[in-house]
Amino acid sequence: MNKTLSITVTKSQRSKLSETDFDTLAFGHIISDHMFVAEYVDGEWGNMRVEPYGPLEINPANATLHYGQSVFEGLKAYRNEAGEILVFRGDANQRRLNESAFRMCIPEVPEEVFMEGMRKLLEVDREWVPKNPGYSLYIRPFVFADDDYLGIRPSRKYKFIILASPVGKYYAKPVAVKVETQFSRAVEGGTGAAKAAGNYAGSLFPAQKAQDEGYDQLLWTDGKTHQYIEESGTMNVMFVLDGVLVTAPTTTGTILKGITRDSVLTLARDMGVSVEERFLSVAELEEALISGRLEEAFGTGTAATVAFIRLINIHGKDYLLPEKPADAFSNRVLKSLDDIKYGKVPDTYGWIR
Ligand code: COI
Repeated sequence: MNKTLSITVTKSQRSKLSETDFDTLAFGHIISDHMFVAEYVDGEWGNMRVEPYGPLEINPANATLHYGQSVFEGLKAYRNEAGEILVFRGDANQRRLNESAFRMCIPEVPEEVFMEGMRKLLEVDREWVPKNPGYSLYIRPFVFADDDYLGIRPSRKYKFIILASPVGKYYAKPVAVKVETQFSRAVEGGTGAAKAAGNYAGSLFPAQKAQDEGYDQLLWTDGKTHQYIEESGTMNVMFVLDGVLVTAPTTTGTILKGITRDSVLTLARDMGVSVEERFLSVAELEEALISGRLEEAFGTGTAATVAFIRLINIHGKDYLLPEKPADAFSNRVLKSLDDIKYGKVPDTYGWIR
């Protein structure tokens, strides 16, 4: 797309800023005053606008409501001490959105539509980027089918929307996870690598079962044998075994190519930590918990950043992880990531815009 983008701005008549308590933000409850919207009609993205956040008019025959042809992203904006707004790795999210879109027969969102849409929204809603340390503005771009048609085929119309939500921690404390060996999140040839809405809907029932049993989330295993660990809840998962950082590779198409995952692996290598991208079996995990070889386990994701795991349930048995020293890898990498995101150290990786 070479045309100069035209984005109209309609400001909200009543801001919710003054009634928002920025000291007690959890995750995902509050949406900022505005949203960016673009529409795909007749093979082109147009009608781009920033407008007050509010309900959409959706026909009950809307294809997304019936068939879930929809993908999303999650990224964050941070405020540095000078008050500037820093967006972490938005280019990687833009690329991944289109990889997900491709798998779901959704047209590509051009880079400039994604970037300019986000930039304009952040300009209008800049006061929504929290000023308190530890908080950020979660940005949720998503695309969904907009045809009113009950037959099943790729839609011809779509909407691309970006929302912004000031957030605090996703998990307030370290989590207890259960190794899932009955249900599957993804199988080879499926949609596991895409950030497709339906992947998350399908995970709700097994996750709820685990929550009813007292766990916070699942450790997903591979869909074929249930013998190898793949992800944790809505995050990638990493283990420190005998000082080596181990995480599943993303080559099978069953695991999301996490941007936090990639950032943690990059930082680990630069810290001199050995990294192994390999499948860890449930049997090895259990052996490592019993022998004390497992030093740390944590999830990585945009929403949760680095979520420490305190307990793992395997085949009905609970294993507590060892106490972590203050200089544990997961503590150090979380601090390094935060220092980059909040602009406290120079961004030598080119991750910040
Ligand atoms: C993210 O980390 O951005 C996610 O996609 C998690 C979300 C399901 C809350």
